[in-house]
Amino acid sequence: MKAVILAGGTGSRLRPLTGLMNKHMLPVGKYPMIYYAIERLKEAGIEQILLITGRASAGLFIQYLGSGSDFGVSITYRIQEEAGGIAEALMLAKPYVKDGEKFVMLLGDNLFEESLGSHASVFEDQPGGAMVLLKQVHDPERYGIPVFNDSGQITSIEEKPSEPRSNYCVTGIYFYDSYVFSLIDKLTPSERGELEITDLNNVYAEAGLLTYRKMSGWWTDAGTFGSLYEAAGRMQEEDE
Ligand code: DAU
Repeated sequence: MKAVILAGGTGSRLRPLTGLMNKHMLPVGKYPMIYYAIERLKEAGIEQILLITGRASAGLFIQYLGSGSDFGVSITYRIQEEAGGIAEALMLAKPYVKDGEKFVMLLGDNLFEESLGSHASVFEDQPGGAMVLLKQVHDPERYGIPVFNDSGQITSIEEKPSEPRSNYCVTGIYFYDSYVFSLIDKLTPSERGELEITDLNNVYAEAGLLTYRKMSGWWTDAGTFGSLYEAAGRMQEEDE
């Protein structure tokens, strides 16, 4: 399975630090944030990685990661010219993923303990569609939140709802079939002018093609100062 890592965006919740440096290059324990996404993929046996970032930071990523050989992986790069949304960035992976191939996409600011191997094999055995990983959180209004039917299937996802209907969030770890690109083509920008990942996942949910698995280890979206410090503490413990 191939992987796509998103490491663009504006990092607005981590300003002023992100005025100086891309969020995914900020230190988390001993390493820059991006290191952990690469490590989690490598340990799951996923070695072909497409890294998508913005123009201003690309040089720094290339300097640090190079071809990926120091990390035991092979990295290809693509540039997202403007932060036009997660689904817009994902569209840049179209030439990288062959028809009929399945892949995993990681948001580079998601840090987690668990190995991706078992989730990837479950998705490989699934006929197609999409799969998301869910995690219980204490602040669901910050995330995409699933709505379940009586049989426990996800019928839709609400993005940052003011009244969340569950305390499970959709993490930034997504598995897709190659049909995803034709679905992104049909999306329209949201009110904030972005192609939203939640709108994309809702197309799969409406078609009954969105499955999920729950994560058991710790997980955090290190997009705010609080969660960045939490992640740094946990990673330092792991690295020692
Ligand atoms: O972390 C999980 C959450 O991630 C989900 O629960 C939400 O449904 C999903 O929308 C997303 O929410 P965030 O508010 O955390 O998204 P953010 O704009 O912070 O972007 C997340 C990552 O995607 C970050 O690593 C930067 C990257 N990104 C983002 C945008 C908007 C890009 O590479 N390009 C972009 O244009």
